[in-house]
Amino acid sequence: MKRIITEMTNDIIDIEKKYMSYTTRVPYFPLVVDEAKGLTVTDIEGNEFIDFLSSAAVINTGHNHPRIVEAIKKQVDKCIHYTPAYMYHEPHTKLAQKIVEITPGNYEKRVAFGISGSSSVDGAIKAAKAYTKRSRIVSFLRSYHGTTVGAISVSGISLGMRKDIGPLMSDVYFIPYPDSYRGNIGMSIDDVGSNCINYFKELLETVLPADEIAAVIYEPIQGDAGVLIPPNGFYKELESICRKSGILLIADEVQTGFGRTGKMFATEYFDIEPDILVFGKAIASGMPLSGIVARKEIFESWGAPAHFFNTAGNPISCVAAIETIQIIKDEKLMDNANKIGEYIMSRFTSMMDEYECVGDVRGKGLLIGVDIVKNRSTKERDIKMTAKICWRCWEKGLILAFFSGSVLRIAPPLTISIDEAKKAIDIIEESIKEAEAGLVSDEVLEVIKGW
Ligand SMILES: Cc1ncc(COP(=O)(O)O)c(C=O)c1O
Repeated sequence: MKRIITEMTNDIIDIEKKYMSYTTRVPYFPLVVDEAKGLTVTDIEGNEFIDFLSSAAVINTGHNHPRIVEAIKKQVDKCIHYTPAYMYHEPHTKLAQKIVEITPGNYEKRVAFGISGSSSVDGAIKAAKAYTKRSRIVSFLRSYHGTTVGAISVSGISLGMRKDIGPLMSDVYFIPYPDSYRGNIGMSIDDVGSNCINYFKELLETVLPADEIAAVIYEPIQGDAGVLIPPNGFYKELESICRKSGILLIADEVQTGFGRTGKMFATEYFDIEPDILVFGKAIASGMPLSGIVARKEIFESWGAPAHFFNTAGNPISCVAAIETIQIIKDEKLMDNANKIGEYIMSRFTSMMDEYECVGDVRGKGLLIGVDIVKNRSTKERDIKMTAKICWRCWEKGLILAFFSGSVLRIAPPLTISIDEAKKAIDIIEESIKEAEAGLVSDEVLEVIKGW
């Protein structure tokens, strides 16, 4: 059961510790990736793992999908890069067209590519400000939007991220995001959606003039907060407030996009039309690419060159993205995400009868969170138990991470088969059982820290 770790692994980790900044890492296991195909990751020692993290929801089509590999190889031979800021290239143009076709919003749109989710979140903020000529942004507590200065300024998840780098972008206001499991600070759990809306209204009536707000930025499903799904009607109410006052809606679909939740974009579950949508992560199956798609008039109100990056829209990333979108459709990956997601949710729900630490199971498609608690009635997070479960999974050959200290992050590639899902969930169940029985030592907590 124990993973074989030799000096090969330890040496690489030691060198990394010596040369790399600690700020770039979320510590998990001593796993040095060598190869990755489909659902399987192989480390340099030859140990194989089922990947339930998908490289943080980036690899929706499975690692090294042959069609992606082929598209990339073909493009590499032709041209690695010419900046689309200065010249044109076909993959860039074709991808922009595809993005317009597949994103929600029944209006004329324009696209701008970036390199990371964070850079495109910054783009969305700039676009909203330029169009509305307003300076204020509303965001949600516990949201995660990235690590550039703009993205950190609107992220409400971690003091650690914000500490010592101020002043951040000014004029950002945070409101609570509906948490149907734990409720929100001092509010009744019965109607978390309306409670959060009422909080926003109170803010607008007391300290925050609605006609000075450029946009509300939100994750349609809050991912890193531990997969929080707002109740029905929440977004309709939010949209109604925003439309009355000319406030734009920015949907951050960096984590939820490209089939992850069982729809191409999670926005489709909520029957609203964001004015700006941010995408990233899975779009190019691991090649760096992100972007914003917005109403045409929003982009037209903005000067040039107000938002470009030299290597954004790189042709290799663009061909990988075009192929990714086509694979999601051809292989019916959204249907598969829903089918396997249901199976996984039902397995965890059954586990609630056996293991006291499984407090809640929630999700859509293959973005699922399993909340690990000390006690079902207090819902107190069991951060140590969560880390120990993930550690045990790694020892047994499964990559599993967690959000918000205590929420197991179930996000395998959307290509997963039912047999692979069964095998993986069996490993997680055994790990829960063994962690609950005290069979995982406290020492592992020195290594696995998570997020
Ligand atoms: C919802 C959301 N927005 C933005 C980002 C930032 O993306 P990136 O790390 O590519 O900058 C992330 C990354 O995890 C995310 O989950």
